[in-house]
Amino acid sequence: MQNNHLYTINDSESLTLWRFPKQADDSPLQAWDTADKLLAEYVLSNIAEKDRLNSALIVNDNFGAVTCHLNQISPSVFTDSKVSELATTKNIELNNLAPVKIETDTEALKNYPLVLVKLPKNLDFLQFILQQAHQSQFQDVEIIAVAKATDINKSVVKLFNRYFENVEVSLAKRKSRTIKASGKQKSPYTSFQAWQKWQHNELDIYNASNVFSRSSLDLGASFLLDYIPNTANKDVIDLACGNGILGLSILKTQTPNSVIFSDESHMAIDSVTKNLNSNGFENSNIKISTIWQDCLTETEDESADIIICNPPFHQQKTITDHIALQMFNDAQRVLRKGGELRLVGNQHLGYFQKLLTIFDDVKVLATNDKFVIISATKN
Ligand SMILES: C[S@@+](CC[C@H](N)C(=O)[O-])C[C@H]1O[C@@H](n2cnc3c(N)ncnc32)[C@H](O)[C@@H]1O
Repeated sequence: MQNNHLYTINDSESLTLWRFPKQADDSPLQAWDTADKLLAEYVLSNIAEKDRLNSALIVNDNFGAVTCHLNQISPSVFTDSKVSELATTKNIELNNLAPVKIETDTEALKNYPLVLVKLPKNLDFLQFILQQAHQSQFQDVEIIAVAKATDINKSVVKLFNRYFENVEVSLAKRKSRTIKASGKQKSPYTSFQAWQKWQHNELDIYNASNVFSRSSLDLGASFLLDYIPNTANKDVIDLACGNGILGLSILKTQTPNSVIFSDESHMAIDSVTKNLNSNGFENSNIKISTIWQDCLTETEDESADIIICNPPFHQQKTITDHIALQMFNDAQRVLRKGGELRLVGNQHLGYFQKLLTIFDDVKVLATNDKFVIISATKN
C-alpha cells in the first residue's frame, strides 16, 4: 500500500500529514508538494538571524505541511481558508506539535519581518499579499515564496518587482523554485485595487482579492438569479456565498425571515460584510448573519427552509466534486422537512444523479448550453 501521508524530514524524523477532509488511506493524493518541503528546508538552512526566524508568518500553507515542518521556529500562520485552518490544526495535533497562532485579518501581513509564501494560484491575491508586505512595519521585511518551477514565470516575477527592489529566483530543485524579495520599492505600484467593484441590478458588489468572480458576475450565478425561489418569510442560506450576490439579490427583491451568508474564504465573508453595509442592509428588519465555515459543518440541523448554492468544483488546482457532495449532504441535514436546495451546476458535472442519492425529490428546472438549475427537496 502507498504511504502517501508520511512526510519525511530526514533519516530519523517524519510527520503524518493528511488533507482535509482526510483522504482515503490508499489515496494517491498528498497533503503537500515538493514546493512546500523546499520552502521549509530553505528557511531552516538559509535564515541565520534568530529573531527573524522566530517571527515568521507562513502564508497560504494549504494543508499545514510547511507549518508542521517549521514547528520548531514557532511560526504564525495567515490563511484565508477555513479548510486550510482546519487541516493545519488537525495535522499539528496529530503530530503532537506546539499550537501556532492562526491569523485571518489581512493587517497581520504587515506585522512580521519574515513572510513565507506558498504561491497562490490567484495572482490578485499574490499581489495583495505583496502590497501588504510592502506596507510592513518592518523596513527590512523579507519575503520568501515558493512554487512549482512551471508556476514561476515572468508575470509572477514582475509582481514581486512592483513592490521590492531585490528579487532573486533560485534554480529549480525537485521541480520547484524559491523567490526571495527584500528592499521595499521607494515608488511601489499604486494601481492595484485591493477591492474591485462591479454592479448588478443596482447592487454594488465589492470583491476582495481572493474572492471568486472578483471582476464580474459569474455566468452560473447569473443563470441561477433567474430561478431564485420565493423566499417570503423563509429562513434562507446562501451557501458558498462568495461576494454574496445570490443572498444580496434576495434581500433586494424579497422579504425572507432570515439570510445566512456562509463561505470558507474569509475574504468572501469580509466582502459580504462590506456589501451588506454599502447596499444599506445593515439596519434591515430581516435577520442577517455571516459565517466562515467549511460547507455547513457548524450550522444546526433542520434550521433552514431554502438553501441557494453555486457550488465550487475546484480545490486549489484540483478539479473535484467532493466539496459539492459534502455541501449536498450538509444541506440535506440542515433543511427542515419540505425545505429546498436550489442550485446551478455545469451540465457535465452530473449533479442531478448525485442529488438523487441524497434527496427524495430532485427536479431539473432549466438548462442552457452550459448550466443546469436543479431543485432538490427534503420530504
Ligand atoms: C462557484 S463560487 C460561488 C460564489 C457565489 N455564490 C457566486 O455565485 O458568485 C464557490 C464558492 O465556494 C466557496 N467554497 C469552496 N470550498 C468551500 C467549502 N469547503 N466550504 C464553504 N465554501 C467553500 C468558495 O470560496 C467560493 O466562494
